[in-house]
Amino acid sequence: MRLILLGAPGAGKGTQATFIKDKYNIPQISTGDMLRAAVKAGTPLGLEAKKVMDAGGLVSDDIIIGLVKDRLKQADCANGYLFDGFPRTIPQADAMKEAGVAIDYVIEIDVPDEAIIERMSGRRVHPGSGRTYHVSFNPPRVAGKDDETGEELIQRDDDKEETVKKRLSVYHEQTEVLVDYYNKWALSGQPGAPKYRKIAGVGPVETIRDKVFAALAE
Ligand code: AP5
Ligand code: ZN
Repeated sequence: MRLILLGAPGAGKGTQATFIKDKYNIPQISTGDMLRAAVKAGTPLGLEAKKVMDAGGLVSDDIIIGLVKDRLKQADCANGYLFDGFPRTIPQADAMKEAGVAIDYVIEIDVPDEAIIERMSGRRVHPGSGRTYHVSFNPPRVAGKDDETGEELIQRDDDKEETVKKRLSVYHEQTEVLVDYYNKWALSGQPGAPKYRKIAGVGPVETIRDKVFAALAE
């Protein structure tokens, strides 16, 4: 299984990615998680990326494409992969096409902007794994602690309301065009074209999971 999860910041890509990667036994390639790991490690890339991420902007296409191409060389991608938060621009999508990176499904998770701010303000993450919770919509078993490791959960630096608004506008300006890009490709009938599925992303996490699983089984 090789798929892309497409959707606005806070649409639930990371949340649904956890279910999909477990079911299909594929790695989750989250460029956001990779960048946050670089920030935490204090690498030159991390220091550069942090400024952009905290401002709600996009890290340069060259850097992101390089990161993903390297990641795809690792052995665990042989069985498939799940892209979460990538591609995010036309050049990123083109780079994958040109490199012949196969995609079976593009799953768009659709959530209106109004619902996003509320999701982000209550989000808590486990930095080690990227596992994501919400204080009221998807709480951990013990408040403030990761279910699997018991380690402390944190708030992301870019979940401040002003930054979230900026990220949403960047999504509409630069990423939403990929809805059309992949729809057109899916409808083209070209060999290797992915299937495109749009999922309404509002409702209980498990309901959305079941809709995603159903879409991937079609
Ligand atoms: P990234 O980490 O990719 O962030 P994002 O796309 O903005 O998406 P999020 O992680 O914020 O949301 P999500 O859709 O994963 O939602 P989640 O499941 O957590 O990128 C961060 C930054 O890195 C970017 O701004 C950019 O600077 C840089 N970057 C990354 N990739 C890049 C690229 N390819 N090119 C350039 N720059 C890049 O859910 C959100 C919350 O809602 C959680 O609290 C969750 O518990 C809750 N929730 C989930 N589902 C539901 C539901 N059904 N009902 C209620 N609450 C729910
Ligand atoms: Zn995410």
